[in-house]
Amino acid sequence: MAKVIIDPGIIKDIKERERAVYDKWAETYDQSLWATWLKTWVEGFLKDVPVASKILDVGCGTGTALKQLQARKPLLLAGLDISPKALDVAREKLAGFPHDLRTADAEDSFPWPDDYFDVAFFNSTIHHFPNPRKPVIETYRVLKTQGRLIVSDPHFPFPFLGVVNIFLSFYPLNGDLHFFSQQGLRRFVESCGFVRVTQRPSAIAARYTLAFKPT
Ligand SMILES: C[S@@+](CC[C@H](N)C(=O)[O-])C[C@H]1O[C@@H](n2cnc3c(N)ncnc32)[C@H](O)[C@@H]1O
Repeated sequence: MAKVIIDPGIIKDIKERERAVYDKWAETYDQSLWATWLKTWVEGFLKDVPVASKILDVGCGTGTALKQLQARKPLLLAGLDISPKALDVAREKLAGFPHDLRTADAEDSFPWPDDYFDVAFFNSTIHHFPNPRKPVIETYRVLKTQGRLIVSDPHFPFPFLGVVNIFLSFYPLNGDLHFFSQQGLRRFVESCGFVRVTQRPSAIAARYTLAFKPT
């Protein structure tokens, strides 16, 4: 992917808009068609989440994906999101299960120690970040060696990807900024240090990239 340089003032506006959009949407988000589609993505990568693991959801929103992962009998369901109202909904949903949810910008340092999680995933969030390298490098830090990174996002085949990205550069919808190609995403996670990258369909028009932190 070509390096996109965005003015810091615009980035601040992007973050404020993200928070405002998802705070406003928090109460009704789970009833949306979008959220229903995202649930099918999680079903698609569920088998790649080891049983009894410590799991981090980067951009967890209302916590629907974390709730689905209860099926894997996790030791911890952790998440961060820029929207405090979305996290309020997530906390209600995860009550009674071991969880740790933080309001944070994913492009800042994550509030967890090194080598802490077995799995970290981005479900429909990587395309929201003006600088996705920061959260992926932080994910590398907080994962244990042999820990798993899962990046799940829509898949736009050529030539639609280019058209969609040009459209989003003018109209970023709900903070959707830029989608990776499959090859671009593979190269990107490798450039952040991850290895053994595989890419598979997770649902209709969605794919996930699975990669490991090396020993
Ligand atoms: C399309 S929603 C996906 C939510 C969730 N992953 C799911 O599967 O339902 C994108 C999420 O990314 C969050 N987000 C966007 N920019 C963020 C940032 N810089 N830091 C943390 N979260 C962010 C939004 O608040 C929103 O909850």
